Amino acid sequence: MQAKLFTPLQLGDLTLPNRVVMAPLTRNRALPDGDVPHDLNARYYAQRASAGLIIAEATQISPEGKGYIQTPGIYSDAQVAGWQKVTDAVHAKGGCIFLQLWHVGRISHVSLQPDGQQPVAPSPMTASAQTFIETGFADVSEPRALETDEIARLLDDYRKAAENAKAAGFDGVELHSANGYLLDQFLRDGTNKRTDAYGGSVENRTRLLAEVLDTITKVFSPKRVGVRFSPFSAFNDMSDSDPMATFATAVARANDAGLGYLHLVEGEMAQSRNLPPEADIAKLRAGFDGAYMANNGYNRQLAIEAVESDAADLIAFGRPFLANPDLVERLEKDAPLNEPDQTTFYGGDARGYTDYPTLEEVTA
Ligand code: PHB
Repeated sequence: MQAKLFTPLQLGDLTLPNRVVMAPLTRNRALPDGDVPHDLNARYYAQRASAGLIIAEATQISPEGKGYIQTPGIYSDAQVAGWQKVTDAVHAKGGCIFLQLWHVGRISHVSLQPDGQQPVAPSPMTASAQTFIETGFADVSEPRALETDEIARLLDDYRKAAENAKAAGFDGVELHSANGYLLDQFLRDGTNKRTDAYGGSVENRTRLLAEVLDTITKVFSPKRVGVRFSPFSAFNDMSDSDPMATFATAVARANDAGLGYLHLVEGEMAQSRNLPPEADIAKLRAGFDGAYMANNGYNRQLAIEAVESDAADLIAFGRPFLANPDLVERLEKDAPLNEPDQTTFYGGDARGYTDYPTLEEVTA
C-alpha cells in the first residue's frame, strides 16, 4: 500500500499532490545588485517542483529586514519581476510555491542596513551570533529598540511584501517567526524586555505576531498562509523562561487567524531533534486546527511514520531537498540520496545549487 506521505493533502482550496515539502533554505544566490532573484533561482526551484509544496527561501520584506548578503527581497519592482520568473517556472511544471516573509531584526550588521543604520529589535540587546557580510563572517551589530509608533510602519512593510508576493505569482506565504529573527525576538522573553503593549506578558509578546497575521491574511486568504516557529531552538542566541506557555499562546494566535498550516522546527534548528524535557510538540500541535508541518532532521522512515500515525500532516525537508531535486520520487522508491555539499550551501553559482543529479541522471 502507498504510504500516506505520498498521498494528496487539501490545504484550503489548494490540493497538494503529496506531503513532502521543500523547507525554506537560505542559499544567498540573489543578484548582488538589489537582491533580485534571477534565472538561476528559477531553474533551482523548477527542478524541485514535484514537492507537494515549495516554501521559497527566507526573503526580506524591506531593506531593514536584511541580515546576510545576497538574500532575496520582496519590496522592489525588480524583485517582484525576478520572483515572477521563479513562480512561472515552478507552475509550468505543475508545482505549488509559497514565499517565506522575513525580517531578521537584530541578526544583521550595519554594513547591510540602509545608510549603515543600526538594525532594529524589540530591545537593544546584541546577539551573540554571526552573520555573513561582504568581507566574510562578522559578529552581528548592536541593535536599537523599535519605537512603539514604528510598529504601524512595520506592519505596512509586511502588507506590501504580501501584496508583492501575490503580484509575483506565489500561491501563498509563510510567515517566518522562528530561528531568532524579528518576530521570534518579540515572542521570547530572553530578547523581549519591552514595557509597552508588545512586551512583558505572553499576551503582549504575541501581539506583534497577531497583528502581522491579521495584516497578511487580508492579502492572502488565511488558508494560504502558514507560520513557522522554533520553540525550543537556541539558534541565534535565543531563550525563553517558559517556551511551552509562550508557544502555546503563539499557536493560539495562529489558530485564531485561521491559518492553513503550522510549521514547527522540532528541536535545535538544523542541528538535532533533541528536545528539552518540558517540550511537548503534540500538545502545541493540538492547539491548532489546520495542517501540521513538521521539520528538522526527518528521514524517509521518520517521515512515513509521522504522517501514517497522524503525528504530522506534512514533512518539510531541507538539506535532503537541496541535494535531491527529485526527492519525492527517491523517497517513494526508497532510492539512495545524493549527499548535500556543505561548502556550497551559502553563496556561489550553479555548483552545488542546480547541478545535483536526478536518479535518472545518476543511473543513465
Ligand atoms: C541562515 O542564513 O543561516 C538562516 C536563515 C534563515 C533561517 C535560519 C538560518 O531561518
